[in-house]
Amino acid sequence: MTTRRRILVTSALPYANGAIHLGHMLEHVQTDIFVRFQRLQGHECIYVCADDVHGTAVMLNAQAAGQTPLDYAAEITKAHIQDFQSFQISHDCYETTHSKDNEQLSAEIYSRLLASGNIEKAAVEQLFDTEKGLFLADRFVVGGCPACKTPEQYGDNCDACGATYAATDLIDPRSKLSGSKPELRTSEHIFFALSKHTEFLKNWTQSGALHPAVTNKLSEWLDTGLQNWDISRDAPYFGFEIPDAPGHYWYVWFDAPIGYIATTEQWAKKNGGSFADWWCSEDKNHPRAEIHHFIGKDITYFHTLFWPAMLQIAGMNLPTKVRVHGFLTVNGQKMSKSRGTFLLARSYLDHLNPAALRYYYATKLSGGIDDIDLNLEEFTTKVNTDLIGKFINIPSRTSGFVGKFFNHELMPSTLIKSEEGLVILKKIKDAKKVVDEYYEAREFSKLVKFIMQLIEELNEYISKTEPWKLAKEEGQLKTNSSLHEICSVSLKSFRALSIFLTPIIPNLCEKIAAFYGEEFFNSFNLIEDDVIKI
Ligand code: 2FM
Ligand code: ZN
Repeated sequence: MTTRRRILVTSALPYANGAIHLGHMLEHVQTDIFVRFQRLQGHECIYVCADDVHGTAVMLNAQAAGQTPLDYAAEITKAHIQDFQSFQISHDCYETTHSKDNEQLSAEIYSRLLASGNIEKAAVEQLFDTEKGLFLADRFVVGGCPACKTPEQYGDNCDACGATYAATDLIDPRSKLSGSKPELRTSEHIFFALSKHTEFLKNWTQSGALHPAVTNKLSEWLDTGLQNWDISRDAPYFGFEIPDAPGHYWYVWFDAPIGYIATTEQWAKKNGGSFADWWCSEDKNHPRAEIHHFIGKDITYFHTLFWPAMLQIAGMNLPTKVRVHGFLTVNGQKMSKSRGTFLLARSYLDHLNPAALRYYYATKLSGGIDDIDLNLEEFTTKVNTDLIGKFINIPSRTSGFVGKFFNHELMPSTLIKSEEGLVILKKIKDAKKVVDEYYEAREFSKLVKFIMQLIEELNEYISKTEPWKLAKEEGQLKTNSSLHEICSVSLKSFRALSIFLTPIIPNLCEKIAAFYGEEFFNSFNLIEDDVIKI
């Protein structure tokens, strides 16, 4: 018997400053497929997530909407949860980062960083918007690129030449918020001494937690040396005020990943235990949990450098895997509002079935970090030709005969005698091992291809054996006839294939389970039960 694993899984916490789009959904579908697979395997797998509600963007959007940041974020969180539920994303707990648990855990981790000599203070010069009365984050200031002089560039990097720089280096900077010319001001900031942990991170990034492409990218950064990380922001800021540093708040990226732990605690409060069972446990009776983070490649730095260093110093478990995916493009283009390729989850749901997108995404996803293109023509073909034309078509070719002639009962596998029928059943049973490997490695596109091949073989078997002809022949229509055998092989195989596809298209497979008189498929038990009624 395989050991029952304990697996904690997270998707990146969406910002509470806008609606869920199909890029978010790509990540949540990918994570959800992995989670549902683990649960079907019988492992204890919890999937936690939350809205990331802190930061300047939420604060300013709330101001513009005439709401408090909390009220503003609460409405957005509610809509996020509805969108995820509509796509059958099976979070076990979905909270927000603005919780007591998160504040306490952030304070605890901060105090451990402080006690171990990993917190430093330094003066920082920044651009200050005197009209709005706040320091300007890089995204809120524009000016000429100091390298190529292109105007209207943001405060962190240049779209034209790719140069990265400090906002204070911009030529003729201007506040995006008020349009005014910002002033240079100095204030004291709090830093996490990341640079001390370069050796630890060099080892950890090569320990197997990351895809080799990610390790390679990180080694470029690690070789050039890490900078200490500014984890404070000055008031006004929507976040948690730092204990013993009034007027200073933790930067949103400090408490956001701690939100993973806080959400685990919130789950544990309802379901038993505590966050420590997942993040600190070494107890033999409570085996150490695996931690899998699913993220987009733009936030690799935070999850593979800052985060493991923080956890290590705080004496907590390190991520088992940080699973990084590429960006979503639409018809080969970056998602963009002006080009009409910025697709919201809600707009999709207004017109199309979520199962179709889950299936399509699965056909595109791999374990690597390449971008994934949502090509609308390919989407239509894959869904219509493969999912509906090939897969869903199987029962419509065979099930009517079972109802009409065989009292809705399939033949026990032990009575199946034809070579072709036995070959199909064996192939499907043997496929389980390959299916497991692909799911575990997140190689969903290979997985769907592999399952599709089996579906095609099954369709060929049906075409070749022509059950509809047998149904017309007299004397064949008794239990255990060839017709009964063909339909039974087809429908037992279809049931097994549906179980394989359950993590990808759960709602559709629930309907298929009902066709077999089952509430849903709750394990990877394939065709052991020989008396199946449809
Ligand atoms: O990039 C983002 O959308 C962030 N809100 C992700 C946070 S993930 C985690 F660290 F909390
Ligand atoms: Zn430039």
